[in-house]
Amino acid sequence: MKLDDTTITGLAHTPSPDEPGARLATHVSRLDLTNFRSYPALRLDVGPQPVLLTGINGVGKTNLLEALSFLAPGRGLRRAALPDIARLHDGTAAASWAVAARIDGRDGSVSLGTGMEANPNGGPARRAVRIDGEPARGQATFAERVSMIWLTPDMDRLFMEGGSARRRFLDRMVYGFDPEHARRIAVYEQAMRGRQKLLRDGSGDGAWLASEEETMATNGIAIAAARREVVLRLDTAIAAEDGLADRPFPRAALALEGEVEDWLAEGPALEAEDRLRDVLAAARSRDADAGRALRGPHRSDLAVRHRDKDMAAALCSTGEQKALLIAIILAHARLLGLARGAAPILLLDEVAAHLDQERRAALAERILSLGAQAWLTGTDRRLFEAFGENAQSFDVSAGAVSPATGDSP
Ligand SMILES: Nc1ncnc2c1ncn2[C@@H]1O[C@H](COP(=O)(O)OP(=O)(O)OP(=O)(O)O)[C@@H](O)[C@H]1O
Ligand SMILES: [Mg+2]
Repeated sequence: MKLDDTTITGLAHTPSPDEPGARLATHVSRLDLTNFRSYPALRLDVGPQPVLLTGINGVGKTNLLEALSFLAPGRGLRRAALPDIARLHDGTAAASWAVAARIDGRDGSVSLGTGMEANPNGGPARRAVRIDGEPARGQATFAERVSMIWLTPDMDRLFMEGGSARRRFLDRMVYGFDPEHARRIAVYEQAMRGRQKLLRDGSGDGAWLASEEETMATNGIAIAAARREVVLRLDTAIAAEDGLADRPFPRAALALEGEVEDWLAEGPALEAEDRLRDVLAAARSRDADAGRALRGPHRSDLAVRHRDKDMAAALCSTGEQKALLIAIILAHARLLGLARGAAPILLLDEVAAHLDQERRAALAERILSLGAQAWLTGTDRRLFEAFGENAQSFDVSAGAVSPATGDSP
């Protein structure tokens, strides 16, 4: 988690292919899908270079990125309900679905698997998680093996909407630096739900409530501290980039807004824990009425500004907002590459289509210099021309993915 200052200063220059982040990027080498949306069965072998997926609308490009996104903690890039993902065929949904991937990187090779399996006790279907074939404790464990960041067309409104999507975006960036962050969030949210249930039932069990609040306080402060550290590192790194007016991607300014983060800025973490514990204990009746916890790090927000124009991201043009998001993701990938020796896997859904030719070329150049395995989708191969021979191209057609041939789209 701790990065030294040399790491940050190193961000101001363009990386050479010899840098650790460029050589050792963690990448998917094999992907197997079973009954995953439009794919009855798919095996895809790929190398560490960027993967370019071309195909007509509705053919299954985003489905493929969604499958990969299940290798990160959470509910995937569509946040879909598990049963909706099971392949529908002739009006019947498959009883289970699975995503399995082999991940290669500087720490060797690992197989990650997840999916929905039928519950033998007859209850709702469950999410299964396996690492090297062995059942694992939860998807949070995946964050120790691979880090992944995505951009989808849905995120075009990230700066305009409520804070929860921005928090998830930030948390995905934090997982890369601090894999425990995913587990802490799961524990915090479980305790928050447990506390709310006790408040709703009015059972009056003070000791039990206090125990849930204790879990919320310790994990909540650790969550806020990890977010704060990554936002600070990222903001410092971006500020150190050159501020030329003709940059293809604008520089962002990032800050965390939330009272818990303010406490951490004012004093030690232990004091902040005490404060959160006290705040929660004092807010029981109010939270019972509201039906949710009104204070805590689950209310914090990531504030983004266009640094060079000094303007809130929400006030920037659609294209500027997209460029800001790309800039943040690239800065994060670069920082992570330098800090952990491995750039994250990038899932970039329809990103190239929204960029002009110059920005498309700049994006390809940045991805290649990061050495990251980026997965990009598009409806036209020409969108990816700037990658030249340095990427692997595939055509996506209903339920199948095949190496691109010269005469495809
Ligand atoms: N559970 C499911 N079972 C079978 N097919 C599904 C399921 N869920 C979605 N699909 C199908 O997957 C297809 C959508 O795939 P996807 O979103 O990956 O397309 P795409 O190639 O990204 O298209 P676009 O270029 O429009 O973004 C649709 O045809 C949809 O009907
Ligand atoms: Mg799509």
